[in-house]
Amino acid sequence: MKDLEHRITEILIKMNLDQKVGQIVQAERQFVTPEAVKEYHIGSILSGGGSVPGENRPEDWIQMNDAYWAASMEEDDNHLAIPTIYGIDAIHGNSNVKGAVIFPHNIGLGATDDPDLIERIAVATAREIAATGIDWTFAPTISVARNDHWGRTYESYAEDPDIICKYAPRFVKGLQGNMGEEKVIACVKHWVGDGATEHGIDQGDAGISEEELRRIHIPAYRTAIEAGVLSVMASLNSWNQVMCHGHKYLLTDLLKNELGFQGIVISDWDGIDKLSDDYAEAAVIGLNAGLDMFMITDKWKTFIQQVKKHVEQGQIPIERLDDAVRRILRVKIRFNMFSKPRPALRKLVKDSSCFGCKAHREIAREAVRKSLVLLKNEESILPLHKQARILVAGKNANNRGHQCGGFTIAWQGVKDNDSIIGGTSIWEGIKAVAPNAALSVDGSGKDADPENHDVGLVIIGELPYAEMMGDIRIAGLSKSKKMSNNPDNKSNEENKTSGFNTGLSYKTAHASMPIMGEGPYGTHLYLHELHPEDLSTILNITNKGIPVVVILICGRPLVVNQELEASKGFVVAWLPGSEGQGVADVIFGDYDFQGKLTFSWPRFDDDNWNIGDENYHPLFPYGYGLRYKKEK
Ligand code: BGC
Repeated sequence: MKDLEHRITEILIKMNLDQKVGQIVQAERQFVTPEAVKEYHIGSILSGGGSVPGENRPEDWIQMNDAYWAASMEEDDNHLAIPTIYGIDAIHGNSNVKGAVIFPHNIGLGATDDPDLIERIAVATAREIAATGIDWTFAPTISVARNDHWGRTYESYAEDPDIICKYAPRFVKGLQGNMGEEKVIACVKHWVGDGATEHGIDQGDAGISEEELRRIHIPAYRTAIEAGVLSVMASLNSWNQVMCHGHKYLLTDLLKNELGFQGIVISDWDGIDKLSDDYAEAAVIGLNAGLDMFMITDKWKTFIQQVKKHVEQGQIPIERLDDAVRRILRVKIRFNMFSKPRPALRKLVKDSSCFGCKAHREIAREAVRKSLVLLKNEESILPLHKQARILVAGKNANNRGHQCGGFTIAWQGVKDNDSIIGGTSIWEGIKAVAPNAALSVDGSGKDADPENHDVGLVIIGELPYAEMMGDIRIAGLSKSKKMSNNPDNKSNEENKTSGFNTGLSYKTAHASMPIMGEGPYGTHLYLHELHPEDLSTILNITNKGIPVVVILICGRPLVVNQELEASKGFVVAWLPGSEGQGVADVIFGDYDFQGKLTFSWPRFDDDNWNIGDENYHPLFPYGYGLRYKKEK
């Protein structure tokens, strides 16, 4: 430890102001060249969701990362050789890259209640990331989503912190492990209270007491820090009207001093922008509050100028800048970045046979099997017979894009089979084992015929979305709200706004990424309102006297009373990812169900129960999930 700090000091002494300020910048790849990385001493680069090089093959990523790394390591009179690190949202597998294995989103993993599986998933994910020459993933998300309207509910393992506390250290260990060539830097996010915002508004305000913040939202960070997590991402939400990005108490006093976090606190995507109308002031507030590295899209040159100026003028103490740089160097040294070979020469890059490999697909398929939650099984309609004449219908039956959800290939996800290379759609998995199954011609189930079909299997639910695009907002909630960046919580007319934000930064910086719809996703959690076609598909089949089993693809619990009523069997598959075969493994009885709800299931739209609430009475409680075998 002493040696480590001594080594950092030796590097710090050699660094001039330009080099220090460059080190705290993380620029988006579309806005920075390898030459600029050297010229401005850029400490890190990232890909926003769907921001991909070349044809998005592993070799394109390796070539790009190798060029950035090489530029950062060219030492001369103006530049010190400090390896730049590349970060990405590999939040369910290396999910931006074509051909990667896509694991279920966190909401499904929560239902498995299997920490060993979580660690194996993290190990496999780290290998697929390392195989593309990337060093850092902005995962795991350890939010505790408390309101199902939130568009990021699926990134959360549970509405209750217990499981998240068990998972966080195992995921961190699986990613970082021995810090060797098969490992990547983990980042727990978003600090803190992102899942506590009023009405589940993304980037909104968490109006909760400190007692609740500490009881529900902070414990998982404690376990991740104890497991040695090297980075934490600040959240774009505010806490009692004060933005987390400018919150010295949360970032410095609590996270660093009280919890003893020694790694990098990174800002979220252009996260300082809303701290002040004056960008220079925003940078000063963020750095002084305790942010160490700044995720910036296009304005990083302005940021550098302003931070330099304000250090020279004394508004940013040099000690604070030095501390930020020290933390970044500490992570780079601990992660052995100075001794690792250049990306193109790393072990898994040279032998990339692990990328998208069968062994990883098997782990993902196991996760799918274990994540399925059986809500209803009238007259033991499940398991289905493999020889049965099954009519498979519904818009999510044969669409690998739909079953992967957001943060897959594109920021908002994709809506076809071809973009997801490898794996199987749920239909493809069924077809492989049930010779008499047939796919409804147009998906609507109108071709159901009691002469030809014994049972209907209807695969329905949500379409992909990410972040605020997935919010469910009742009318009137999209209005901006005044927020303060003032940690003393004094009202401030100059404060920037929050609330629904598809503002400039997203529109311009994610410009090259396909945005599907403008969001929010809808106004209520009722599936029959969000997707009336789903109930129609069920009824098209049941009206012919054929019983139906429903498989629901969803990123959160939805109100499905009518769909439940119309079907004999009902399975929640969450967002299972690329290995749809795992669904067939269970519905035909080769494996039993074992998934249990980690989100209480609502009867009504505003019926937002969380386990532990007073007078708790959801439709299906936390922990619910039927099995074939009678439980003792
Ligand atoms: C999200 C983060 C993500 C970052 C980088 C932001 O919009 O809030 O979770 O890591 O983008 O893509």
